[in-house]
Amino acid sequence: MRATTGASAIARSVVALLLLTAGIAQAGPAEQRGRKLYLGYGCSYCHGSIGQGGGRSGGAGPKLAPDALPYAAILGQLRQPYGIMPRFSERIVPDCDVADISAYLRSIPAGKSAHEIDLLR
Ligand code: HEC
Repeated sequence: MRATTGASAIARSVVALLLLTAGIAQAGPAEQRGRKLYLGYGCSYCHGSIGQGGGRSGGAGPKLAPDALPYAAILGQLRQPYGIMPRFSERIVPDCDVADISAYLRSIPAGKSAHEIDLLR
């Protein structure tokens, strides 16, 4: 029954591919643009590539996602940062870019908890 096994393996691959494509398609244009801006402005340098915090620099920033702050709070932090984060003015990062960065951060899903990962049980 090799042929059947092969066919079902192909069917499984197709289903997996469709699920993967569906997952990618969930990020709309604002989220995709926001991701590029987030990386391009160097937020990721301090806050990690998916907002997980840490980053690579000495002034490592806190975790920004999942459960990202609302747009207004992110905007406020950029314009008048508390602590050691550098200020990003409207001329450097316009409000519309902050909105897309906010959309991106809010679209980052939570990871699985330890008890949902087989190897950690
Ligand atoms: C040089 C490092 C650095 C860069 C670059 C940076 N941040 Fe930060 N950020 C920080 C630090 C550090 C804090 C925490 C403030 C503190 O403790 O001084 C912070 C705090 C924040 C907070 C508040 C988080 C909270 O939970 O209170 C937000 C939102 C934020 N940053 C967004 C951004 C965005 C968006 C960018 C890119 C446009 C960015 N940051 C770039 C270092 C950085």
